[in-house]
Amino acid sequence: MSGEPTIYITTPIYYVNDRPHIGHAYTTVLADVMARYHRLLGRPTWFLTGTDEHGQKVQRAAERAGVSPQAHCDAMVVHFRRLWERLGISHDDFIRTTEPRHQEVVRTILQRLHRQGDIYPGEYEGYYCVHEENFWTEKDLLDGCCPDCRRPVERIAERNWFFRLSRHQDWLRARVEADPACVHPPSRRNEVLGFLRRPLADLCISRPARRLSWGIPLPFDEDYVCYVWFDALINYISAVGATADEGRFGRWWPAAWHIIGKDILVPSHAVYWPCMLRAAGIEPPRALLAHGWWLVDDRKMSKSLGNVTDPLDLVERYGADAFRYFLLREMVLGQDASFTADLFHRRYTADLANALGNLASRTLSMVERYRAGRVPAPGDAGEADHDLSSRAEALAAEAPALVDGLAFNGLLARTWELLSTANGYVERNRPWDLARPGGDGSRLDTVLYHLVEVLRVVSVLAWPVMPTAMGSLRERLGEGPVPASLRGEAGWGRLGPGRAVRKGEALFPRVEV
Ligand code: ME8
Ligand code: MG
Repeated sequence: MSGEPTIYITTPIYYVNDRPHIGHAYTTVLADVMARYHRLLGRPTWFLTGTDEHGQKVQRAAERAGVSPQAHCDAMVVHFRRLWERLGISHDDFIRTTEPRHQEVVRTILQRLHRQGDIYPGEYEGYYCVHEENFWTEKDLLDGCCPDCRRPVERIAERNWFFRLSRHQDWLRARVEADPACVHPPSRRNEVLGFLRRPLADLCISRPARRLSWGIPLPFDEDYVCYVWFDALINYISAVGATADEGRFGRWWPAAWHIIGKDILVPSHAVYWPCMLRAAGIEPPRALLAHGWWLVDDRKMSKSLGNVTDPLDLVERYGADAFRYFLLREMVLGQDASFTADLFHRRYTADLANALGNLASRTLSMVERYRAGRVPAPGDAGEADHDLSSRAEALAAEAPALVDGLAFNGLLARTWELLSTANGYVERNRPWDLARPGGDGSRLDTVLYHLVEVLRVVSVLAWPVMPTAMGSLRERLGEGPVPASLRGEAGWGRLGPGRAVRKGEALFPRVEV
């Protein structure tokens, strides 16, 4: 085994009440890019996504559609699977909370907590927002509505089961204080610490089955089903063998990076989840990574606001790789970003069709035309050549640290700076003049070699973001479509002279608006 750390990457499991939009696609693409970089760095990586299928929100969507909840889930999950396939998502597993392998683990853990006295019966009185699947107290409400989504809430007064959350408050606060890396970015960690300064109430974890039947029955009281969040969070461990296959579980847990949107950081992921695990005698996950929102006109993109864009429309027009590139390039991890079709088009044209696409097509067509399609051996490198190669080398050397610092947009920005330097290098060195009768043939060899080599380095560095387009570029360069290792292949000068290359069709064809 390599000495590289083990990495377990998860996305939220998405509600199947509706189809995925750009927000869901972003989280999943981000997780995919992260998984692909880690694999390229030689780290054992496991990547999980899936769907959250229980609860009132899904039950009501099924009622509206006039079908059983299971039939509704079975129909809706197809939209998620199909989109992930279309976007080239490389998950190792896809979990559905209605699967027996998940339900059994939830019941085992509930049983364990009940036996230990961590779950007790009590009267629940308060409010519930079905849309957010969240409990609220009177003083949380804003004008009598859910403080998060501003929808009317439902008043609930009934006997229920409670999880002793409050007893873990001091432990949790000490842990979050002691480990600056457990929540990323740092501003979000402060939000968690702020939340933990107020006293925690115990968590209501059940629903009477007569009111809500669509859930996992409590093993110790079949008149109740499990609260959807308590059920859903457990997917992260049920999928890797918790309570069922300790060998497998020990391989991936607690090396988990939970990638989520900031909407579900507090309290579910940052508070309920580590306390649930602690009560069950399981270590907390390595880190939570809470990204910002895609906004449309300064409002969160969401189905309920009716301002969503279907990812498939963009993929249809620009291709999956361009879609992935846009999402990763435009959003600084942790901050919000605006989505507009115009911004997308401009990024596509400037960065992909022009900066990268043109460099590839002009470089490879010159090698075809002037050197019969074979990469020439470079002559002595001058200052301009050194400048280009040392920038490429510096970036390749820095890439692992950028990945570990979660600076994916920074890595892309730096890569496009390199492309811009390379495009300037073409303009200044004018290989078409060097190729004229009486031109400096050795200089032409050097210039062409440097350009092809920049393309090869970029095809490694950008591969996790655009695996199909970079795979195609790599094949034109005579490389295998999938780089074996970032450290091994992104270094300068690995391309042997004499290699046959070909220009092929445009990598990023122009798109008319
Ligand atoms: O919350 N911008 O599922 P969900 C960025 N089932 N990301 C967005 C977004 C936006 N405008 N809109 C949605 C749930 N997302 C629970 C999760 S996990 C144990 C259970 C993304 O279908 C973002 O990742 O409402 C957000 O956290 C997630 O979709 C919410 O998906
Ligand atoms: Mg939501």
